[in-house]
This record gives sequence, structure tokens and C-alpha cells, in this order.
Amino acid sequence: MTASNCIVLSSDHAAIQLRQAIAAHIAAHGWEVVDIGPTTPESTPYPKHGEAAARLVASGDCRFGIILCGTGQGIMMAANKVKGIRCGVCGDTFSARMIRQHNDANMLSMGVRVVGEGLALDIVDAFLTAQFEGGRHATRVEMIGALEG
Ligand code: RB5
Repeated sequence: MTASNCIVLSSDHAAIQLRQAIAAHIAAHGWEVVDIGPTTPESTPYPKHGEAAARLVASGDCRFGIILCGTGQGIMMAANKVKGIRCGVCGDTFSARMIRQHNDANMLSMGVRVVGEGLALDIVDAFLTAQFEGGRHATRVEMIGALEG
């Protein structure tokens, strides 16, 4: 596994099927996928899955993280509690592109009850192909980091 090519995927029970579809999609595009589950449908709390994925991104083991729950909101909130994580919830491709270009997001969250599979895959592509623009945006991203203390 090389960190620059690695994407960690995680979800709660609600989004297992979409997570597996995303895993196949990004693997077909040459990314190394670290899918940390879950794989069985029992109810499981989104904070622990958001945290687990976020830790692999914050440590540098994975370049990006993609996380999913019913709305994408709860798991995003948990991931953003981990130092160094900038995760946005996206339900459209414009936002997915912009959180990379302007916010240097290192994680993407989506809601399986919000987006269908086709849109979700387009959102993933928009996120992964956009580049951080730096410049004035770098200063602002540094300000976000400063809030972490
Ligand atoms: C689980 O039912 C649901 O609460 C969860 O998937 C997510 O939507 C929370 O934000």
C-alpha cells in the first residue's frame, strides 16, 4: 500500500452496498482501496466508523477517505473531530470539486438516503480528480487547522 494511492472506505450499516459499489469503481480507476467495513447488516454506530477511517487519513496511511451513512452527516461530524481531517458532505459534483479545490478536503462523506449510486460515483470522480488550488485558499485552510489547538 502506498499512501499517495490509498483510499480508505468506511460506512455504517445503512450504506454497505453503496460503499462496495464505490470500492469497485475507484479500484477500477487504479486506486488502492482499504475497505474497513462493516460487511454485515447489523446496526452499528456511525461515529466509530467515521473515526476509524479518519485515523488512517490523519496518520498518512491513506491519501483520502470516503465515508457513508444514511445522510452522510453524522459520520462526517465524527471524522471531523480527528485532528487534521477536513471532511465535507456532498450531494452534488460542484461541492465535491470545490471541497478539494478550495478547502483541501481529505475526506468525502455522502448519504445513501440522499444520493443514488450513479450520482455518488460522479461525486467521487469529481472529488478525486480536482486539485487543491493553494494560494489564498492555503491561508484559510491553515486557519481551520489553527482552530484544532
Ligand atoms: C442510521 O439510521 C442513521 O442515523 C445514520 O446512518 C446517519 O444518517 C446518521 O447521520
